[in-house]
Amino acid sequence: MRVLGIETTCDETGAAVVQLQPGGPGEILSNEIMSQIAEHAAFGGVVPEIAARAHIEVIDRLVELALAHAGLELADLDGIAAAAGPGLIGGVMVGLTTAKALALASHKPFLAINHLEAHALTARLTDGLAFPYLLLLVSGGHTQLVAVKGVGDYVRLGSTVDDAAGEAFDKVGKMLGLPYPGGPRVETLAAEGNPARFDLPRPMLGRQKPDFSFSGLKTAVRLEVERAGPLTTADIADVCASFQAAVVDTVIDRCRAGLRLFRETIGHPNALVVAGGVAANGALRRALMRFCGEAGLRFVLPPASLCTDNGAMIAWAGIERLSLGLVDDMTFAARARWPLDANAEAVHHGKA
Ligand code: KG4
Ligand code: ZN
Repeated sequence: MRVLGIETTCDETGAAVVQLQPGGPGEILSNEIMSQIAEHAAFGGVVPEIAARAHIEVIDRLVELALAHAGLELADLDGIAAAAGPGLIGGVMVGLTTAKALALASHKPFLAINHLEAHALTARLTDGLAFPYLLLLVSGGHTQLVAVKGVGDYVRLGSTVDDAAGEAFDKVGKMLGLPYPGGPRVETLAAEGNPARFDLPRPMLGRQKPDFSFSGLKTAVRLEVERAGPLTTADIADVCASFQAAVVDTVIDRCRAGLRLFRETIGHPNALVVAGGVAANGALRRALMRFCGEAGLRFVLPPASLCTDNGAMIAWAGIERLSLGLVDDMTFAARARWPLDANAEAVHHGKA
């Protein structure tokens, strides 16, 4: 089984072809990605209108490339999948409409994929991981802990009550005058800094429900920066190191709470899986590895190119759904919001 997957929910345009290995994980035949970061950098963040237009400009070419690099034609595919949300609605419509048109023209099944579900299932593409497992999703738009019990069977154990983790990295970067997106730069500078220099809060520490909060931490950083006055390069490195240490401590504590809740309510997870752009952060990865070692839990970290937004994860989610006969029709509309839980499943099938 081979599926084409299209991703256009944020600032990356992705098109990929993935093949199901009989009795095994997936095989990525092609995975084309075009980032728009340069087009948004001048504005210090993603501008929805620019994103939608940029997706339109490259999507046809990217699909052609994905097919060419896979050595396939449309007729060789078993289905066409696109992320139908959640995300920036203008961009989502570009990918969704493209996939519908291709499916109609080639008489192939069409699959409307929840972008979060695609992140959740990536560990099965890369590692053939069996259900159930605990997913930590940490990106620029989302921060949540999810019990992944099966295809379409997700329990959101906790999520952020304000900013996403990547958003907090980006806002701190902006405060320090670093280029967008701030996350990778903050990590680089943090390596040179003193994480104990600034006494920053660890939001939600010790709370039983595995929710996250980053806006208080961001405000605390702002106050320290204002108090310190003009910052030297060494000061900036210390702010980055102190902030990153606070994020890592918080995320690990929230994973501990999530694991406890998982074991109490669901059973034994086969692994902790991390996804989203912030999973590229080395300090976080090392801390998660240590945490899993102590908790006796397998740690699955897909390669960075599959942690961030990409077409392969959409294609794989399409394969998972198509294998279960879960195809969609042409009336499926783009969704700005689409939570990953039991209610969302009811909505997906038109029951609510
Ligand atoms: O998953 P992603 O590529 O896009 C979505 O948000 O969906 O995540 C991008 C986010 C940005 O906020 C970026 O600053 C952050 O991931 N990020 C990092 C690092 N690399 C990317 N944050 C901290 N450390 C990094 N090394
Ligand atoms: Zn994403």
